[in-house]
Order: sequence, then C-alpha cells, then structure tokens
Amino acid sequence: MKTVTTIADLRAQVKEWKKEGLTVGLCPTMGYLHEGHASLMDKSVSCCDRTVASVFVNPIQFGPTEDLATYPRDFERDCQLLEEHGVDLVFHPEDREMYAEDFSTFVDMQVLSTTLCGASRPIHFRGVCTVITKLLNTVNPDKIFFGQKDAQQLAIIRRMVRDLNFDVEVIGCPIVREPDGLAKSSRNTYLSAEERKAALILSRSIRLGQDLCEGGERNSAALLGAMKDKLATEPMANVEYVEVVNGENMQPIDTFQEGDLVAMAVRIGSTRLIDNFTVGDPKITFAE
Ligand code: PAF
Repeated sequence: MKTVTTIADLRAQVKEWKKEGLTVGLCPTMGYLHEGHASLMDKSVSCCDRTVASVFVNPIQFGPTEDLATYPRDFERDCQLLEEHGVDLVFHPEDREMYAEDFSTFVDMQVLSTTLCGASRPIHFRGVCTVITKLLNTVNPDKIFFGQKDAQQLAIIRRMVRDLNFDVEVIGCPIVREPDGLAKSSRNTYLSAEERKAALILSRSIRLGQDLCEGGERNSAALLGAMKDKLATEPMANVEYVEVVNGENMQPIDTFQEGDLVAMAVRIGSTRLIDNFTVGDPKITFAE
C-alpha cells in the first residue's frame, strides 16, 4: 500500500490506473478507523480494481465550538487497518495541501442540510460537500463509498452528485454495530465506561422504533413519542433531535413509508452520538 500526501501525486497515480483501464473506488474518511470504515474498504475492494482511502480531518466541516482539536487521530494504526483490508493507496494531506490560505470557494447544499444535524451544525455539510467535491475532482473515481450511519451526509452527497453531474456511483454501506448494539463511531472513544453503558439507549430506541414500524405504525408523532419516552429512561442522555424525515429530501413528515429515515442525535455527557434506521431496513439485532 502506498501513501501520498499531495494532490499532484494522488492524481498521477490514479491517472496511471485509468490508463490501464482499471476501475477505482474512493473511501473518504477522517481516520481513527474502525470496522464501519473497514466495511467501506471491503465493499470497494470487492467491486473496484483499485481502492483509494483518504484520511483527512477536514477542518472546514467543524464549527468553532466543535471537537476539531481533539478529534482522535492515529495514522499508523489506520494504515495497518487499510493495508489489512486491501486498500491500494492512502491519501493523507496536510490542511494546507487541501486549503490554500486564501481558499474561498465552497459547495453549499440548500434544503437537505437544514434539518437533523444541519440544524445545529450550520456549516458542517458545506464543509463535507466541499471536501468531497475536491476529492472527486482529484480522483475521478468510478464509485465512492459512505456509511449509512451518517444518513443525512449520504443523502446530501447523492443529491450533490446528481445536481452537479459528477460521473460517479455513490454506494451506501450498512451501519456496523458493536455486539451490544452501539453504532461504531470514532467518537465512541470519548465515552467513559459509565457513558458507554448509557449510550446503549440509542440503539435500544432504534430497535423500539423498528418494532413499531414492523407492527404497522406509520404516524411520525406516535413513533417519535414512543422513542423519546424510551430515550428519557436514560438520565445521562440529552436528546438533540429524534425525527422522521423523507428519505430523499430530509424534510420532516407526518406519516412515513418505506425508504424514509428515522434519525437521532443524542449527547451522552459531552459526546454527541448519532444513529438511525431507514424504514424497511432489516431489524437490528444485538445482545441484551
Ligand atoms: O464521514 C466522514 O468521516 C466525513 O464527513 C467525510 C465524508 C470523510 C468528509 O470529511
């Protein structure tokens, strides 16, 4: 596995592969990789000739009071995981390689970024769309891979690719969970032992939501009421939002159907965790 740190080197390597007629998959990450990321690499390796992973903590998607400075980093360990999963090339740029001092061009997403996480993180998706645009323009991959845990991000990238005519297939990969149900996240590392236990309230209320949907519930208020009651049983949980939104435009809806999204953000202590399910997805299972 090769590591490159400049856009020029990344572009040159991919050009060589393309000349040979090879297909290229791109897995963008911010590092501190876990099995959720590994599942993106595995998917890419299984359906593309070459896989590029980026490891870049993108400063422009963090708000001024967010965790940019403390975001967990371990590039050596990341490389080990990437190599084990068959990645061919890692792109690990410095901030200044991605953003010139006078960088002033952004890709902004309108409607889809106003709800859910976008409501409390107003510049977040602008930062995500901008960095993904830069990566797409540099790598020009055949396929790009994202986790379903960041469901709003995935919907936004799909819309951006459609709206701006990027020639790439966007592949969403299922959420990977710990055996006890907690969705894998680099931010889980912030949780104390007590908080880690309390964090299980997210997946438990996701499962309750799925049970209700399976039982035929299609009224958002009824579904959300039950899920909020469940979340309220955990004193350490501070709910930022639990919402039902249209699966494509991310706007709240009163009644829902297959393909729509039930999503939540909950703070456990100072750690903000997200989880979700798409109506019609297989039910999550975990050890009680
Ligand atoms: O999901 C993430 O880790 C980031 O938002 C992404 C897609 C790598 C862009 O920085």
